[in-house]
Amino acid sequence: MIDQQIKAVIRDIRDFPKPGIIFKDITPILKEPPLCNDIVDAFIEQLGDTRVDVVAGVESRGFLFGLTLANKLSVPFVPVRKAGKLPYTIKQKVYELEYGTATIEVHTDAFEPGQRILIHDDLLATGGTVCAASDLIQEMGGIIAGFSFVVGLNFLNGKERITPISDNIIVLAE
Ligand code: PRP
Ligand code: MG
Repeated sequence: MIDQQIKAVIRDIRDFPKPGIIFKDITPILKEPPLCNDIVDAFIEQLGDTRVDVVAGVESRGFLFGLTLANKLSVPFVPVRKAGKLPYTIKQKVYELEYGTATIEVHTDAFEPGQRILIHDDLLATGGTVCAASDLIQEMGGIIAGFSFVVGLNFLNGKERITPISDNIIVLAE
């Protein structure tokens, strides 16, 4: 099963980036092309007949599988970037972190109002990042078609947080 394969390969790094945090390092997945292909195939399979017009991937680790997934779905990919990285006109969202705030940005011509956007990221923790991405996309007229993640940390209740936005939530390993 894909969840077992993912769990067998990712590694826990203690006290990174801060003491008390156990970081889920997905980089070993990237060294295994067959597993990378299986991950994208699993997303496609679990999406079923969900209509997706655009895949939006969240910087930076959401770019890794987000672009491949978009390519395989034959739909455009939109990078949701951290502040100051996108060169064209942008719309931005400032959101709360545990300490302080963060900002994400999207190009204003990234998609058309009414398009159905799948938000992709590598990891669902608190859900704060994809909530902010959803807010931004919805403010620009996009419709959230669902969410896809390689890994989910259930104890942080991210799923509960994002279910009101869309209950079409794919988490391959949790
Ligand atoms: C991590 C991860 C998700 C987010 C999950 O990204 O890749 O994007 O945090 O956390 P949340 O559900 O609590 O919002 P990070 O900010 O570490 O940046 P990176 O992807 O650039 O490594
Ligand atoms: Mg990230």
